[in-house]
Amino acid sequence: MHFTLRQLKVFHTAARHLSFTRAAEELHLTQPAVSMQIKQLENSAELPLFEQLGKKIYLTAAGKELFDYARNILLQLEEMEQVLEQMRGVRAGRLDISVATTANYFATWLLAEFSQNHPDVTIKLDVTNRAGLLQQLEHNDKDLVIMGRPPEQRDLVAEPFMDNPLVIIAAPGHPLCGEERIPLQRLQGETFVVREQASGTRSAMERFFSTRDITLNTGMEMTSNEAIKQAVEAGLGLGIVSVHTVKRELEAGHLVTLNAEEFPILRHWYVVYRRGKRLSPAARRFREFVLRRADHSQYGTMDLT
Ligand code: PGA
Repeated sequence: MHFTLRQLKVFHTAARHLSFTRAAEELHLTQPAVSMQIKQLENSAELPLFEQLGKKIYLTAAGKELFDYARNILLQLEEMEQVLEQMRGVRAGRLDISVATTANYFATWLLAEFSQNHPDVTIKLDVTNRAGLLQQLEHNDKDLVIMGRPPEQRDLVAEPFMDNPLVIIAAPGHPLCGEERIPLQRLQGETFVVREQASGTRSAMERFFSTRDITLNTGMEMTSNEAIKQAVEAGLGLGIVSVHTVKRELEAGHLVTLNAEEFPILRHWYVVYRRGKRLSPAARRFREFVLRRADHSQYGTMDLT
């Protein structure tokens, strides 16, 4: 049987998602390129690996067998690369990290600073929401992740390094602007523009209000903080976002924060990785850099943006 590691990787990703489209997205390929690699693998296996029933695809018995082998082969390869990387040291290393959509507002600054001191480290940055990050951690796809507190039960190491206050934002002319200690009940009469369900900001906000028996009127749902800011500025409602995302708009007076009881909701940012993961020298160095950089700012907010 002749096959390439690339075909195996494409097959493994498609099998993991049970979707050629999602595999194409993850691997930054087109969908026909994914189908082609899998077709070639099926040809050399002389067996179909996927079958389509209705709109869904499933692994065939041969596909399931191959999936187990592919996973082990790819894990071995990764370990091999890591061992070689350890031997080469941090100089020529690679850093493959993923950060929460909201953390991207400061992560790029952190990376820029790190990269200045380690110019030969190749950096790959992925930006996705909380649910996406948890999935990547589960699949051991990344060296490190920067996100809000991960769930306790996962087999993860999570080290806090910076505060992440969530604030209520409004357009400058909003009737609640300038009021002091707005009671949370008053917010029930307002419409909120919110992030998608899979977002950490969204779940923190929902947890906060549901433990206080308050039901917010959620209007439009958006997958980006930028879109929320625009919508709030345009008067479509109030928003709840991390303060990291609105620094510039607050300074320019395009948005204001409301002074509500118990606000801001205080969250933290964490550097997260799988327990027992053998971190590459570059990843170890980056972790130390983030924790040290945070220490420097006395575990408040880093002056980055
Ligand atoms: P998110 O942020 O809302 O961009 O997913 C992550 C988090 O706050 O946990």
